[in-house]
Amino acid sequence: MNSDIERVLVSEEEIAEANQRLGAQLTKDYEGKNPLFVCILRGAAMFMMDLIKHVDIPMEYDFMDVSSYGGENTVSTGDVRIIKDLDTSLRGRDVVIVEDIIDTGYTLDRLIELFNTRNAKSVKIVSFLDKPSRRIKHVHVDYNGVKIPDEFVVGYGMDYDERYRNLPYVGVLKQEIYATK
Ligand code: IMP
Ligand code: MG
Repeated sequence: MNSDIERVLVSEEEIAEANQRLGAQLTKDYEGKNPLFVCILRGAAMFMMDLIKHVDIPMEYDFMDVSSYGGENTVSTGDVRIIKDLDTSLRGRDVVIVEDIIDTGYTLDRLIELFNTRNAKSVKIVSFLDKPSRRIKHVHVDYNGVKIPDEFVVGYGMDYDERYRNLPYVGVLKQEIYATK
């Protein structure tokens, strides 16, 4: 699997640092609020599980699965579908959306709007990665791990056609992997 990676963009050390920093900030900002962390499946699962080990206050979490990309497509369509909805009511809750990466911004823009209609008390975003150069919808990312250039990345939860999620770092795939599909 490692041999499919052109180069490492975010190392395991950088990931650990980002999680510590973000966890400490969230601990401070959400003291006494019992926030609900909403993990956007499947890409953000590994990130959330590492992040919350550094969140040292009472909190809860739930999962939601949405899709804007189909299969091997690497370009967002702006059409966000709910595949699996939350089990938890958002009414009056301080919600923290946990995302793997913000790219065009369509997914998070849509989710913020949806969560506001469900009467959340507040909705904030923590995104592990940010590709600011690709933004189409302006979305304020409250907590950001690492900004990256406009490249398709895999690993640390993120996939290409459902593969590479289990890599412990974030990398760029070799061009030939796409070419030979
Ligand atoms: P957006 O709606 O364009 O902001 O896309 C956000 C979603 O697209 C993320 O939650 C990821 O699931 C997926 N995505 C965007 N860029 C990448 C990437 O480089 N690698 C893997 N998934 C990505
Ligand atoms: Mg995602």
